[in-house]
Amino acid sequence: MPRALNVGTIGAPSEPPVIRIRRIQLDDPLYPKACALREAVLLRSVGWTMDDYRREMPGREEASEHYVAVADHPRGPQVIACACLIPPEGDDERAGKVAQVCVDSQRQGEGVGRRLITTIEARAFGELALEQLYCHAQVEALPFYEKLGWRSSSNEFMEAGIPHRKMVLFEPSAALRPGE
Ligand SMILES: CC(C)(COP(=O)(O)OP(=O)(O)OC[C@H]1O[C@@H](n2cnc3c(N)ncnc32)[C@H](O)[C@@H]1OP(=O)(O)O)[C@@H](O)C(=O)NCCC(=O)NCCS
Repeated sequence: MPRALNVGTIGAPSEPPVIRIRRIQLDDPLYPKACALREAVLLRSVGWTMDDYRREMPGREEASEHYVAVADHPRGPQVIACACLIPPEGDDERAGKVAQVCVDSQRQGEGVGRRLITTIEARAFGELALEQLYCHAQVEALPFYEKLGWRSSSNEFMEAGIPHRKMVLFEPSAALRPGE
């Protein structure tokens, strides 16, 4: 039995939920599907596989919380987006990192990425009581984070041959705050 925490749904109240946001463990059957998506959307373009990622980031997969957006499909549940929340590392005890954020190229622009990130924000600022989230965002994706209230905190830098900026968030997106 896969250990999956159902932490959110997308869909009008009158419709059956079509996309579920879940936190999964590494032994979940959805995990290899998430890895395949990360390779297709993020890693392959920089010449990496998941094996390369694991070798370059030892222990990171095990240390991270893994979130997926799952769509029902006649062939079984499909992972259409995923992201990782890396708990505080080193001296920065109250700052978590969001990484490996990707949405299936066929499902981008539907609000799935937003739901994934706001689910992680709720977890980070809620149960984990973190004071800050940050990520290294590809410059092309900056508007996505800015629309969620994240702010740039660095100049542009190169990572895996792609221009990035560090983006930070000190409180959950407005959509998550009561009364807003
Ligand atoms: C960037 C990405 C994660 C965004 O996810 P998504 O599901 O497509 O985004 P959403 O539909 O939730 O978009 C939320 C808002 O951000 C905007 N947005 C999303 N991506 C954008 C982009 N690249 N440029 C400008 N605006 C963007 C959307 O238009 C939407 O705006 P709205 O609220 O005014 O309608 C996804 O497009 C993706 O995986 N891209 C390729 C990989 C990548 O760049 N990953 C991020 C690495 S840091």
